[in-house]
Amino acid sequence: MKMENNLKFDELDLELKNYAKENSVPIIQDEGLSFLESMVRIKRPNVILEVGTAIGYSAIRMIKAGAKEVYTIERDPKMYEEAVKNVEKAGFSDRIHILFKDALEAYDLVKNVKIDMLFIDAAKAQYTKFFDIYTKNLNEHGIVVCDNMLFHGMVENKNLDEMTRGVRGLVRKLNMFHEFLLSNDLYDTSIYDIGDGMAISIKK
Ligand SMILES: C[S@@+](CC[C@H](N)C(=O)[O-])C[C@H]1O[C@@H](n2cnc3c(N)ncnc32)[C@H](O)[C@@H]1O
Repeated sequence: MKMENNLKFDELDLELKNYAKENSVPIIQDEGLSFLESMVRIKRPNVILEVGTAIGYSAIRMIKAGAKEVYTIERDPKMYEEAVKNVEKAGFSDRIHILFKDALEAYDLVKNVKIDMLFIDAAKAQYTKFFDIYTKNLNEHGIVVCDNMLFHGMVENKNLDEMTRGVRGLVRKLNMFHEFLLSNDLYDTSIYDIGDGMAISIKK
């Protein structure tokens, strides 16, 4: 029975990856995902809050890795619809709560939810805001994981003149977020060159 379930899960996993590829949905890269799953296995969080659901891929994988519950926020209607469908297919509708709203305005929906882990994987220009809003819910010794910290290597590229104006703006904002994290005395932060760049901040 378990093997049958695993087979079904592997099929769904592949289906989601193919959908993401065919429809240019930026789901977490494999390397970043194994890092994230390791964090979940080590930390064993009861509750994770994710900013940026897309099609539900990382939320499903975090439950599979051992999280009890995931709250996840998505503002795009098409993504939200796909995520609801996929979470249902995975059989996790009672453990993954998908909130359809802009995360900059969704705090009221989760204000009473205490979390052990925050995973930020949405609009890069808003990372500092997401961090400020949702770390209010973090339990003692909770952790924050942020994806896309190196933004395809562009954050480390000091030659901003080579980039388009939009990309340059994003890179500047991500650089500011790096500094914000590394100078934040309430958290110990490390940034790793894994996947698209992952940051781990541990609440002191
Ligand atoms: C990189 S994808 C998330 C990928 C997903 N975590 C995964 O790995 O399977 C980012 C998603 O965040 C959503 N997003 C961006 N800014 C947002 C915001 N302010 N509020 C809610 N969702 C947002 C986008 O619509 C997109 O679906």
